[in-house]
Amino acid sequence: MPLSRREMLAFGMISGGALLLPLERSVFAAGQSRLAESALPAPFTVPFSVPPVAMKVNSVGTTDYYSLTMREQATEILPGFQTRIWGYDGSFPGPTFDVQQGREVVVRQTNQLPHAHPTLGYTPFTSTHLHGSASLPQYDGYASDVTYPGSWKDYRYPNSQGCRTLWYHDHGVHHTAPNVYMGLAGMYRMHDSVEQSLSIPQGRYDVPLIVTDAMFDTRGQLLYDDDDQSGLFGDVILVNGRPWPVMKVERRKYRFRILNASISRTYRWRLDSGEPLVVIGTDAGLTAAPQSVPSLLHGNAERYEVIIDFAKYKIGRRVILRNVSPNNNVDYTHTGKVMAFDVVAQASTTSNNSIPSVLSPYNAIMGLTPTATTPTRKMALVRQGGQWTINGQTWADVEASAYTRALANPALNAVEIWEIRNDSGGWHHPLHIHLVDFKILDRQIDLSGIWVAARPHERGPKDVVHVGENERVRLITRFGPHPGRYMIHCHNLVHEDHDMMGQFTVGEGGYDPITTAPAQPLPAPEL
Ligand code: C2O
Ligand code: CU
Ligand code: CU
Repeated sequence: MPLSRREMLAFGMISGGALLLPLERSVFAAGQSRLAESALPAPFTVPFSVPPVAMKVNSVGTTDYYSLTMREQATEILPGFQTRIWGYDGSFPGPTFDVQQGREVVVRQTNQLPHAHPTLGYTPFTSTHLHGSASLPQYDGYASDVTYPGSWKDYRYPNSQGCRTLWYHDHGVHHTAPNVYMGLAGMYRMHDSVEQSLSIPQGRYDVPLIVTDAMFDTRGQLLYDDDDQSGLFGDVILVNGRPWPVMKVERRKYRFRILNASISRTYRWRLDSGEPLVVIGTDAGLTAAPQSVPSLLHGNAERYEVIIDFAKYKIGRRVILRNVSPNNNVDYTHTGKVMAFDVVAQASTTSNNSIPSVLSPYNAIMGLTPTATTPTRKMALVRQGGQWTINGQTWADVEASAYTRALANPALNAVEIWEIRNDSGGWHHPLHIHLVDFKILDRQIDLSGIWVAARPHERGPKDVVHVGENERVRLITRFGPHPGRYMIHCHNLVHEDHDMMGQFTVGEGGYDPITTAPAQPLPAPEL
């Protein structure tokens, strides 16, 4: 039998693979729940729900104020078990924000988490990142700008970009994966007049699908096992914190904002009916035109807005969203299933029930094209010295340099091409660049030297790019609107923590991300 990638890593057979697995781990599947299979719900028996909506606590002029408390909470994920989670306001996942372009938002984040992780023992200091926002450095969730339990920090978000699906999640240095796994993640929808003038589904037909995977111990508690820093692959698929839920739908179109908030798992969505998925939005907003695809590869932290038309089915029909697992994931009995839709009624309204052929044709980033003088930088994603690195560098190197070391220093508003390379088999690296939106120019899918077009579903504004094994990707972006230091990292959060993260500096100066607006001890003044 050929050795798996993990077994080869375990025996040090892969270059730089200094990892050693304890023997029992190579015998027992790392990601499997220790509960009896009968204690897990059968797929498509738990009702679907969406997270609560975040409520503002105050408005002054064009600024809306919110306040979230990160705390531990017992919640029912598996029927009959109370699972301890860490949630924004105790919610798993966190409350969904609905904000309007042009209104500034301040979110007070108060850390009331316990002083130690229940099994890993570390102190959960946090740093909250609004992923998809061009925030100033001191509000960007810089990993080392931390808030300890008993402290608070106000984050300001400009909301001046176009409509998009953002998400907020913890970014605390070296503990991001377990913090997010415990529940510190939520969705943030930014609306604008372009989006609102389109006849696409809106309101209650605009539905968050936050997909994660998890494993549980014998008492129904979340089990954290990253397989010696390679990746975390659970056997239970959760949508909005519910295992393989079933949603009742009307015979009409729905818009799903799918967020892959899993720590390491990559998905490929497909409907069991064989009907296509129609992509209308990517990470950083609506696409120019809809793209109909039979299936859809979805890396960590990417967001895709997808329309499914249930008018094609009769009442009584069940449609299943499957995961045709891409390679380099660890699969279990039910990881090929995600959720089900039961068609139960005629459409109660048929307004906003279409897919216009033109969506958002004037995106500035999508209008960028390389010229003969556009500089190209290369970022190699490599395993080296027992660490995940970018160009051989880690966040520990950034820390050791007193946060000055940078992988790149583009001028403010410079347009550059970045070529991201994963020249190894066995791993995919979803690479995220903070601050900017980018356009994927092309890909090499097998190191053949031949560049091919971006995949149909990723031809929209992006901030994460899935770089599969032996792939290279070229993207183009403009570095702005703020000067300063911003992170770039793999969004397999286990890789990010150990330690595939660096920073780049835009222009000269800029606010210091750590010292400009540090967290303060409680009590906090009124908002
Ligand atoms: Cu979604 Cu640096 O993160
Ligand atoms: Cu980000
Ligand atoms: Cu990675």
